[in-house]
Amino acid sequence: MLLQRRERSLGAGAELFYRHPIQLVRGQGAYVFDEAGRRYIDFYNNVPAVGHGNAHVADAISHQQRTLNVNSRYLHEGVVAYAERLASLHCSRIESFVFSCSGTEANEVAIQMARMATGRRGILCTNAAYHGNSDLVGRLTNVGRTQPESPDIRAFPFPDLYRPIAEGLSEQELEEAYLARVQDTIERFEASGVGLAAMLVCSLFANEGLPNLPPHFMARAAERVRAAGGLVIADEVQAGFGRTGHWWGYQATGFEPDIVTLGKPMGNGVPISATGASRKLIELFRRKTDHFNTYASSPLQAAAGMAVLDVIEREGLIVNARQVGAMLREGLARISATDPHLGDVRGCGLFIVVDVVTDRTSKTPDPERAAAFADRLMELGFLTAAAGAYKNLVKVRPPLVVSKDDATAFLEAFETARREICG
Ligand SMILES: Cc1ncc(COP(=O)(O)O)c(C=O)c1O
Repeated sequence: MLLQRRERSLGAGAELFYRHPIQLVRGQGAYVFDEAGRRYIDFYNNVPAVGHGNAHVADAISHQQRTLNVNSRYLHEGVVAYAERLASLHCSRIESFVFSCSGTEANEVAIQMARMATGRRGILCTNAAYHGNSDLVGRLTNVGRTQPESPDIRAFPFPDLYRPIAEGLSEQELEEAYLARVQDTIERFEASGVGLAAMLVCSLFANEGLPNLPPHFMARAAERVRAAGGLVIADEVQAGFGRTGHWWGYQATGFEPDIVTLGKPMGNGVPISATGASRKLIELFRRKTDHFNTYASSPLQAAAGMAVLDVIEREGLIVNARQVGAMLREGLARISATDPHLGDVRGCGLFIVVDVVTDRTSKTPDPERAAAFADRLMELGFLTAAAGAYKNLVKVRPPLVVSKDDATAFLEAFETARREICG
């Protein structure tokens, strides 16, 4: 059996989705098919953002692979044109890029760059973050929860209007309360002599659970970081490339970063990531390192990345994310409104979560029930998964090509699952 062969060859413990894992053999657009030919509508995967098996991207990759693929130490028109096009889509602070192959590497470069630029080492993150799995970047995971703080990596509680750090406060007061925690952490870096190099946060706090934020939190936190001489790093690995109904998550949450990191959907499956910043910062990094990444900044990466941007623009996928996303969010909110186990529906664009709770008063996270939703939705033909800081969110994050009809079908299935699971 494939499951047992997998355990032998990959080692038991390599995570699989669902109580009864599925075996997928092909995908097309927002659909994937299992070995028995059964179709599922993908409401989870963000790497194939412009659609599973996208022909334009596949042709571009195939053409480039047949034509030329070399390392980054040769002049290549496609690589330069891709970096120029990426820069043109960002705010004016982002001018140049270092390419890598994973989100982890992009964040690793960003941290190194911020430390070089500031001469300080402190990295501020949230207490339920995930930015990658290397020795350095992995130290930013769940700081103060499953990992201790360290002198150079400290966390503040992620801002959250649903389960706030203090009860009975207005949004405005909560904004001040969360900012005070950011400020306190900055001051602890300064007091210890480590100093603040950067704040590194996902523009949407996606892994934290996509919380609704106090309205000016991000812009004001960025101000405080800069006032302390630090840089603002926006991790756009999940948030970027149209997901939110904007090109970048930082546009959705209202701030401008000094450094961005990009990944996941960037090559629709071809491993591409990037660290973007001002030309000055990038050149400092280039001068101080002999940075090289074998597969990165290659004609192949550029061809895939360029083709993804073509599809996002030509097919109006950012508008689609906004429209289908709004429809999904409204539909899920309507279904959840009277259910005592569905406490909150939030998100923007095609990134939505349903917060599953034991009851609406205590808001106690109910990860088992969230997992039951993901299992049942899969049986009904829809891929989602349970996620978030407490693993109690049904995470809805389909490829950007998902249609209104797909959304209607999903909402019907969600209501069926709700009736069965919540009674
Ligand atoms: C916000 C965020 N940043 C970075 C990463 C790491 O990306 P990668 O798995 O490509 O190294 C992830 C992966 O899930 C992520 O969610």
